Amino acid sequence: MRLSSCHNFHDFRRMAKSRLPGPIFDYIDGGADDEDTYRRNTTAFDACDLIPNVLRGVGNIDMSVTVMGQKLAMPVYCSPTALQRLFHHRGERAVAAAAGKFGTMFGVSSLGTVSLEEARRLSGGPQVYQFYFHKDRGLNRAMMARAKEAGIQVMMLTVDSITGGNRERDKRTGFSIPFRLTLGGMMQFALKPTWAINYATHESFKLPQLDGHVDMGGGALSISRYFTEMLDPSMSWDDVAAMVREWGGQFCLKGVMSVEDAKRAVEIGCTGIILSNHGGRQLDGSRTAFDQLAEIVDAVGDRIDVIMDGGVQRGTHVLKALSVGAKAVGLGRYYLFPLAAAGQEGVERALELMRTEIERDMRLMGCASIDQLSRQNLRFS
Ligand SMILES: Cc1cc2nc3c(=O)[nH]c(=O)nc-3n(C[C@H](O)[C@H](O)[C@H](O)COP(=O)(O)O)c2cc1C
Repeated sequence: MRLSSCHNFHDFRRMAKSRLPGPIFDYIDGGADDEDTYRRNTTAFDACDLIPNVLRGVGNIDMSVTVMGQKLAMPVYCSPTALQRLFHHRGERAVAAAAGKFGTMFGVSSLGTVSLEEARRLSGGPQVYQFYFHKDRGLNRAMMARAKEAGIQVMMLTVDSITGGNRERDKRTGFSIPFRLTLGGMMQFALKPTWAINYATHESFKLPQLDGHVDMGGGALSISRYFTEMLDPSMSWDDVAAMVREWGGQFCLKGVMSVEDAKRAVEIGCTGIILSNHGGRQLDGSRTAFDQLAEIVDAVGDRIDVIMDGGVQRGTHVLKALSVGAKAVGLGRYYLFPLAAAGQEGVERALELMRTEIERDMRLMGCASIDQLSRQNLRFS
Protein backbone atom coordinates (compact mmCIF):
# COMPACT_ATOMS: atom_id res chain seq x y z
CA MET A 1 0.00 0.00 0.00
CA ARG A 2 1.32 3.47 -0.93
CA LEU A 3 0.74 6.86 0.65
CA SER A 4 -0.62 8.23 -2.61
CA SER A 5 -3.41 5.66 -2.44
CA CYS A 6 -4.56 6.95 0.98
CA HIS A 7 -7.57 9.20 0.50
CA ASN A 8 -9.23 9.08 3.89
CA PHE A 9 -8.93 8.00 7.53
CA HIS A 10 -9.70 4.36 6.73
CA ASP A 11 -6.97 4.15 4.10
CA PHE A 12 -4.38 5.53 6.54
CA ARG A 13 -5.60 3.15 9.23
CA ARG A 14 -5.18 0.18 6.87
CA MET A 15 -1.70 1.32 5.88
CA ALA A 16 -0.69 1.81 9.53
CA LYS A 17 -2.00 -1.66 10.34
CA SER A 18 0.14 -3.19 7.61
CA ARG A 19 3.29 -1.51 9.03
CA LEU A 20 2.88 -1.73 12.80
CA PRO A 21 3.33 -4.73 15.06
CA GLY A 22 -0.17 -5.76 16.20
CA PRO A 23 0.22 -4.68 19.87
CA ILE A 24 1.21 -1.13 18.84
CA PHE A 25 -1.59 -0.86 16.29
CA ASP A 26 -4.06 -2.01 18.94
CA TYR A 27 -2.70 0.49 21.46
CA ILE A 28 -3.56 3.31 19.03
CA ASP A 29 -6.75 1.84 17.67
CA GLY A 30 -8.26 0.52 20.89
CA GLY A 31 -10.66 1.96 23.44
CA ALA A 32 -11.91 1.06 26.92
CA ASP A 33 -14.19 -1.87 27.87
CA ASP A 34 -16.54 -2.68 24.98
CA GLU A 35 -15.37 0.35 22.94
CA ASP A 36 -18.96 1.67 22.71
CA THR A 37 -17.93 5.28 23.31
CA TYR A 38 -15.06 4.95 20.85
CA ARG A 39 -17.45 3.86 18.08
CA ARG A 40 -20.11 6.44 19.01
CA ASN A 41 -17.60 9.29 18.81
CA THR A 42 -17.75 9.04 15.03
CA THR A 43 -21.33 7.82 14.52
CA ALA A 44 -22.62 10.77 16.63
CA PHE A 45 -21.97 12.99 13.62
CA ASP A 46 -24.39 10.89 11.52
CA ALA A 47 -27.37 12.10 13.55
CA CYS A 48 -26.69 15.64 12.37
CA ASP A 49 -27.47 16.81 8.83
CA LEU A 50 -26.01 19.84 7.10
CA ILE A 51 -28.41 22.22 5.29
CA PRO A 52 -26.41 24.13 2.68
CA ASN A 53 -27.11 27.64 1.41
CA VAL A 54 -26.36 28.51 -2.22
CA LEU A 55 -25.36 31.56 -4.27
CA ARG A 56 -23.40 33.14 -1.41
CA GLY A 57 -20.19 34.17 -3.14
CA VAL A 58 -17.70 31.59 -1.95
CA GLY A 59 -14.76 32.40 -4.22
CA ASN A 60 -12.40 33.02 -1.31
CA ILE A 61 -12.55 30.75 1.68
CA ASP A 62 -11.05 31.75 5.03
CA MET A 63 -10.97 28.80 7.41
CA SER A 64 -8.74 30.42 10.03
CA VAL A 65 -9.85 30.57 13.67
CA THR A 66 -8.50 32.12 16.84
CA VAL A 67 -8.59 29.90 19.87
CA MET A 68 -7.13 30.59 23.29
CA GLY A 69 -5.39 33.59 21.76
CA GLN A 70 -3.73 31.51 19.02
CA LYS A 71 -4.44 32.17 15.36
CA LEU A 72 -4.75 28.85 13.49
CA ALA A 73 -4.77 28.72 9.69
CA MET A 74 -7.19 25.80 9.87
CA PRO A 75 -9.77 24.95 12.53
CA VAL A 76 -8.23 21.60 13.52
CA TYR A 77 -5.10 20.87 15.56
CA CYS A 78 -3.10 17.79 16.52
CA SER A 79 -4.18 16.79 20.00
CA PRO A 80 -1.41 15.60 22.34
CA THR A 81 -0.83 11.85 22.31
CA ALA A 82 1.66 9.63 24.10
CA LEU A 83 4.56 7.51 22.82
CA GLN A 84 4.70 8.75 19.22
CA ARG A 85 8.21 7.41 18.50
CA LEU A 86 6.82 3.90 18.92
CA PHE A 87 4.49 4.58 15.99
CA HIS A 88 7.17 6.07 13.73
CA HIS A 89 10.82 6.68 14.59
CA ARG A 90 10.46 10.46 14.08
CA GLY A 91 7.39 10.64 16.32
CA GLU A 92 6.62 14.11 17.71
CA ARG A 93 9.29 15.63 15.44
CA ALA A 94 7.22 14.66 12.41
CA VAL A 95 3.96 15.94 13.93
CA ALA A 96 5.47 19.24 15.13
CA ALA A 97 6.98 19.96 11.73
CA ALA A 98 3.81 19.01 9.82
CA ALA A 99 1.53 21.09 12.09
CA GLY A 100 3.90 24.06 11.69
CA LYS A 101 3.74 23.78 7.90
CA PHE A 102 -0.05 23.90 8.02
CA GLY A 103 -0.09 26.83 10.44
CA THR A 104 -1.82 24.93 13.17
CA MET A 105 -1.32 23.96 16.78
CA PHE A 106 -0.05 20.66 18.15
CA GLY A 107 0.40 19.23 21.60
CA VAL A 108 3.28 17.45 23.26
CA SER A 109 2.18 14.93 25.86
CA SER A 110 3.74 14.44 29.29
CA LEU A 111 4.26 10.93 27.95
CA GLY A 112 5.79 12.30 24.74
CA THR A 113 8.97 10.73 23.37
CA VAL A 114 10.59 13.98 22.15
CA SER A 115 11.25 16.91 24.47
CA LEU A 116 8.86 19.85 24.37
CA GLU A 117 11.91 22.10 23.79
CA GLU A 118 12.96 20.21 20.67
CA ALA A 119 9.38 20.12 19.34
CA ARG A 120 9.24 23.89 19.90
CA ARG A 121 12.27 24.38 17.69
CA LEU A 122 10.75 22.29 14.90
CA SER A 123 7.44 24.07 14.52
CA GLY A 124 6.46 27.66 13.89
CA GLY A 125 2.90 26.90 15.04
CA PRO A 126 1.53 27.37 18.55
CA GLN A 127 2.35 24.56 20.96
CA VAL A 128 0.37 23.01 23.78
CA TYR A 129 1.95 21.19 26.68
CA GLN A 130 -0.33 18.48 27.99
CA PHE A 131 0.35 17.52 31.55
CA TYR A 132 -1.05 15.55 34.46
CA PHE A 133 -1.37 16.65 38.07
CA HIS A 134 1.26 15.07 40.31
CA LYS A 135 1.11 14.45 44.04
CA ASP A 136 4.38 16.36 44.29
CA ARG A 137 3.33 20.00 43.97
CA GLY A 138 6.97 21.03 43.48
CA LEU A 139 7.10 18.79 40.41
CA ASN A 140 3.97 20.45 39.00
CA ARG A 141 5.56 23.86 39.50
CA ALA A 142 8.84 22.73 37.95
CA MET A 143 7.04 21.39 34.87
CA MET A 144 5.18 24.65 34.37
CA ALA A 145 8.38 26.65 34.76
CA ARG A 146 10.06 24.43 32.16
CA ALA A 147 7.15 24.89 29.74
CA LYS A 148 7.27 28.66 30.23
CA GLU A 149 10.99 28.72 29.60
CA ALA A 150 10.49 26.71 26.37
CA GLY A 151 7.97 29.25 25.04
CA ILE A 152 4.87 27.04 25.26
CA GLN A 153 1.75 29.09 24.51
CA VAL A 154 -0.97 26.92 26.04
CA MET A 155 -1.00 24.68 29.12
CA MET A 156 -3.45 21.79 28.88
CA LEU A 157 -4.26 19.82 32.00
CA THR A 158 -5.86 16.46 31.25
CA VAL A 159 -8.52 15.77 33.86
CA ASP A 160 -10.22 12.62 32.56
CA SER A 161 -7.37 10.25 33.42
CA ILE A 162 -7.45 10.22 37.19
CA THR A 163 -7.02 6.48 36.72
CA GLY A 164 -6.23 4.44 33.60
CA GLY A 165 -9.07 3.16 31.36
CA ASN A 166 -9.66 -0.58 30.96
CA ARG A 167 -8.02 -1.26 27.61
CA GLU A 168 -8.58 -4.95 27.06
CA ARG A 169 -6.74 -5.10 23.74
CA ASP A 170 -3.56 -4.05 25.58
CA LYS A 171 -4.16 -6.71 28.22
CA ARG A 172 -4.39 -9.39 25.57
CA THR A 173 -1.16 -8.37 23.83
CA GLY A 174 0.74 -7.36 26.97
CA PHE A 175 1.31 -3.83 25.65
CA SER A 176 2.78 -1.65 28.39
CA ILE A 177 5.83 0.53 28.95
CA PRO A 178 8.20 -1.15 29.49
CA PHE A 179 6.98 -3.92 27.19
CA ARG A 180 5.61 -7.00 28.92
CA LEU A 181 4.46 -8.80 25.83
CA THR A 182 2.52 -12.01 25.87
CA LEU A 183 3.81 -14.79 23.63
CA GLY A 184 1.13 -13.87 21.07
CA GLY A 185 2.19 -10.21 21.28
CA MET A 186 5.86 -11.15 20.73
CA MET A 187 4.99 -13.18 17.67
CA GLN A 188 3.20 -10.18 16.20
CA PHE A 189 6.40 -8.14 16.60
CA ALA A 190 8.32 -10.86 14.80
CA LEU A 191 5.96 -10.46 11.84
CA LYS A 192 6.98 -6.82 11.35
CA PRO A 193 10.82 -6.89 11.05
CA THR A 194 10.97 -3.53 9.22
CA TRP A 195 9.40 -1.78 12.20
CA ALA A 196 11.78 -3.62 14.54
CA ILE A 197 14.87 -2.64 12.50
CA ASN A 198 13.76 0.98 12.39
CA TYR A 199 13.09 1.02 16.10
CA ALA A 200 16.40 -0.63 16.94
CA THR A 201 18.52 1.59 14.69
CA HIS A 202 17.28 4.92 16.05
CA GLU A 203 17.89 6.56 19.41
CA SER A 204 16.65 4.62 22.40
CA PHE A 205 13.17 5.08 23.79
CA LYS A 206 12.86 7.98 26.25
CA LEU A 207 10.16 10.03 27.94
CA PRO A 208 12.00 13.39 28.10
CA GLN A 209 9.18 15.28 29.82
CA LEU A 210 9.43 12.95 32.81
CA ASP A 211 13.05 11.76 32.74
CA GLY A 212 14.40 14.60 34.85
CA HIS A 213 11.72 14.12 37.49
CA VAL A 214 10.78 10.48 37.54
CA ASP A 215 13.02 7.44 37.39
CA MET A 216 11.52 5.61 34.42
CA GLY A 217 14.90 4.20 33.42
CA GLY A 218 15.61 0.50 33.26
CA GLY A 219 11.96 -0.30 33.77
CA ALA A 220 12.12 1.13 37.32
CA LEU A 221 8.71 2.73 36.90
CA SER A 222 6.15 1.58 34.39
CA ILE A 223 3.63 3.97 32.91
CA SER A 224 0.83 2.29 34.82
CA ARG A 225 2.79 2.74 38.08
CA TYR A 226 3.44 6.36 37.06
CA PHE A 227 -0.33 6.85 36.95
CA THR A 228 -1.05 5.08 40.22
CA GLU A 229 1.96 6.26 42.25
CA MET A 230 2.83 9.73 40.97
CA LEU A 231 -0.47 11.26 39.94
CA ASP A 232 -2.81 12.69 42.53
CA PRO A 233 -6.35 11.29 42.56
CA SER A 234 -7.31 13.83 45.24
CA MET A 235 -6.68 16.72 42.80
CA SER A 236 -9.40 19.34 43.39
CA TRP A 237 -10.66 22.55 41.81
CA ASP A 238 -8.70 24.58 44.39
CA ASP A 239 -5.46 22.84 43.37
CA VAL A 240 -6.08 23.58 39.71
CA ALA A 241 -7.10 27.18 40.45
CA ALA A 242 -3.67 27.67 42.06
CA MET A 243 -1.98 26.29 38.92
CA VAL A 244 -4.00 28.53 36.65
CA ARG A 245 -2.91 31.54 38.71
CA GLU A 246 0.70 30.44 38.72
CA TRP A 247 0.78 29.91 34.94
CA GLY A 248 -0.77 33.31 34.31
CA GLY A 249 -1.53 32.64 30.61
CA GLN A 250 -3.64 30.43 28.36
CA PHE A 251 -4.72 27.41 30.39
CA CYS A 252 -7.27 24.77 29.41
CA LEU A 253 -8.76 21.62 30.88
CA LYS A 254 -9.00 18.58 28.63
CA GLY A 255 -11.75 16.10 29.39
CA VAL A 256 -14.49 18.36 30.79
CA MET A 257 -17.96 17.03 29.90
CA SER A 258 -20.53 18.43 32.35
CA VAL A 259 -22.04 21.91 32.50
CA GLU A 260 -21.16 22.17 36.21
CA ASP A 261 -17.49 21.50 35.47
CA ALA A 262 -17.47 23.88 32.51
CA LYS A 263 -18.77 26.65 34.80
CA ARG A 264 -16.13 25.84 37.43
CA ALA A 265 -13.46 26.06 34.74
CA VAL A 266 -14.65 29.57 33.91
CA GLU A 267 -14.70 30.54 37.59
CA ILE A 268 -11.10 29.48 38.21
CA GLY A 269 -9.88 31.48 35.22
CA CYS A 270 -9.32 28.83 32.54
CA THR A 271 -9.36 30.23 29.01
CA GLY A 272 -10.43 27.00 27.29
CA ILE A 273 -12.08 23.65 27.86
CA ILE A 274 -11.80 20.61 25.66
CA LEU A 275 -14.85 18.38 25.61
CA SER A 276 -13.33 14.96 25.23
CA ASN A 277 -13.71 11.35 26.33
CA HIS A 278 -10.03 10.70 25.49
CA GLY A 279 -10.94 9.02 22.22
CA GLY A 280 -13.12 6.45 24.04
CA ARG A 281 -10.08 5.21 25.97
CA GLN A 282 -11.19 6.07 29.49
CA LEU A 283 -14.85 5.84 30.63
CA ASP A 284 -16.74 3.60 28.24
CA GLY A 285 -20.42 4.52 28.06
CA SER A 286 -19.66 8.21 28.49
CA ARG A 287 -21.34 10.67 26.15
CA THR A 288 -19.63 11.86 23.02
CA ALA A 289 -18.17 15.36 22.95
CA PHE A 290 -20.22 16.21 19.86
CA ASP A 291 -23.52 15.20 21.51
CA GLN A 292 -22.64 17.23 24.61
CA LEU A 293 -21.33 20.27 22.76
CA ALA A 294 -24.52 22.39 22.40
CA GLU A 295 -25.31 22.16 26.12
CA ILE A 296 -21.85 23.37 27.08
CA VAL A 297 -21.64 26.09 24.43
CA ASP A 298 -25.02 27.44 25.59
CA ALA A 299 -23.87 27.48 29.22
CA VAL A 300 -20.38 28.98 28.92
CA GLY A 301 -19.58 29.62 25.25
CA ASP A 302 -19.61 33.40 25.70
CA ARG A 303 -17.03 33.23 28.54
CA ILE A 304 -14.53 30.55 27.53
CA ASP A 305 -13.29 28.90 24.34
CA VAL A 306 -15.09 25.58 23.93
CA ILE A 307 -13.17 23.01 21.90
CA MET A 308 -13.98 19.35 21.24
CA ASP A 309 -12.25 16.17 20.12
CA GLY A 310 -13.14 12.54 19.46
CA GLY A 311 -14.01 10.56 16.36
CA VAL A 312 -13.26 13.31 13.85
CA GLN A 313 -12.43 11.78 10.47
CA ARG A 314 -13.93 14.18 7.91
CA GLY A 315 -14.14 17.86 7.03
CA THR A 316 -17.91 17.65 7.47
CA HIS A 317 -17.43 16.45 11.07
CA VAL A 318 -15.38 19.58 11.72
CA LEU A 319 -18.00 21.84 10.12
CA LYS A 320 -20.76 20.26 12.21
CA ALA A 321 -18.81 20.85 15.44
CA LEU A 322 -17.98 24.45 14.52
CA SER A 323 -21.62 25.08 13.53
CA VAL A 324 -22.75 24.00 17.00
CA GLY A 325 -20.27 26.45 18.51
CA ALA A 326 -16.88 24.79 18.99
CA LYS A 327 -13.98 27.21 18.43
CA ALA A 328 -11.68 24.46 17.10
CA VAL A 329 -11.54 20.68 16.86
CA GLY A 330 -8.82 18.29 18.04
CA LEU A 331 -7.56 15.35 15.98
CA GLY A 332 -6.11 12.16 17.49
CA ARG A 333 -6.07 8.96 15.49
CA TYR A 334 -6.74 11.02 12.36
CA TYR A 335 -3.05 12.04 12.37
CA LEU A 336 -1.63 9.08 14.32
CA PHE A 337 -2.41 6.48 11.67
CA PRO A 338 -0.77 8.62 8.93
CA LEU A 339 2.23 9.13 11.25
CA ALA A 340 2.55 5.37 11.66
CA ALA A 341 2.00 4.82 7.93
CA ALA A 342 4.53 7.32 6.58
CA GLY A 343 5.97 9.72 9.20
CA GLN A 344 5.90 13.46 8.49
CA GLU A 345 4.82 12.91 4.89
CA GLY A 346 1.84 10.92 6.12
CA VAL A 347 0.78 13.59 8.63
CA GLU A 348 1.17 16.26 5.96
CA ARG A 349 -0.96 14.32 3.50
CA ALA A 350 -3.66 13.82 6.15
CA LEU A 351 -3.68 17.54 7.04
CA GLU A 352 -3.73 18.46 3.35
CA LEU A 353 -6.72 16.18 2.73
CA MET A 354 -8.48 17.68 5.76
CA ARG A 355 -7.77 21.23 4.57
CA THR A 356 -9.07 20.41 1.09
CA GLU A 357 -12.20 18.78 2.50
CA ILE A 358 -12.97 21.71 4.81
CA GLU A 359 -12.48 24.19 1.98
CA ARG A 360 -14.67 22.21 -0.42
CA ASP A 361 -17.35 21.62 2.23
CA MET A 362 -17.42 25.30 3.23
CA ARG A 363 -18.00 26.21 -0.43
CA LEU A 364 -20.76 23.63 -0.72
CA MET A 365 -22.33 24.98 2.50
CA GLY A 366 -22.25 28.53 1.16
CA CYS A 367 -19.90 29.76 3.91
CA ALA A 368 -16.84 31.87 3.09
CA SER A 369 -15.61 32.08 6.68
CA ILE A 370 -16.06 30.07 9.86
CA ASP A 371 -18.27 32.72 11.51
CA GLN A 372 -20.89 32.07 8.82
CA LEU A 373 -21.42 28.55 10.14
CA SER A 374 -24.29 28.29 12.62
CA ARG A 375 -26.92 25.96 14.03
CA GLN A 376 -29.38 27.36 11.48
CA ASN A 377 -27.70 25.11 8.94
CA LEU A 378 -28.01 21.93 11.01
CA ARG A 379 -30.88 19.52 11.65
CA PHE A 380 -30.72 16.61 14.08
CA SER A 381 -32.52 13.37 13.32
C1 LIG B 1 -2.59 6.45 21.09
C2 LIG B 1 -3.19 7.60 21.85
C3 LIG B 1 -2.48 8.20 22.86
C4 LIG B 1 -3.03 9.29 23.57
N1 LIG B 1 -2.28 9.90 24.54
C5 LIG B 1 -2.79 10.98 25.20
C6 LIG B 1 -2.03 11.65 26.20
O1 LIG B 1 -0.88 11.30 26.47
N2 LIG B 1 -2.60 12.71 26.83
C7 LIG B 1 -3.88 13.12 26.54
O2 LIG B 1 -4.36 14.07 27.16
N3 LIG B 1 -4.61 12.52 25.59
C8 LIG B 1 -4.11 11.46 24.92
N4 LIG B 1 -4.86 10.85 23.94
C9 LIG B 1 -6.20 11.39 23.60
C10 LIG B 1 -6.11 12.39 22.44
O3 LIG B 1 -5.44 13.57 22.84
C11 LIG B 1 -7.50 12.79 21.96
O4 LIG B 1 -8.29 13.26 23.03
C12 LIG B 1 -8.24 11.61 21.28
O5 LIG B 1 -7.34 10.81 20.55
C13 LIG B 1 -9.33 12.13 20.35
O6 LIG B 1 -10.03 11.07 19.77
P1 LIG B 1 -9.73 10.52 18.28
O7 LIG B 1 -8.50 9.69 18.37
O8 LIG B 1 -10.95 9.71 17.99
O9 LIG B 1 -9.59 11.73 17.39
C14 LIG B 1 -4.33 9.75 23.24
C15 LIG B 1 -5.05 9.13 22.20
C16 LIG B 1 -4.50 8.07 21.51
C17 LIG B 1 -5.29 7.44 20.38
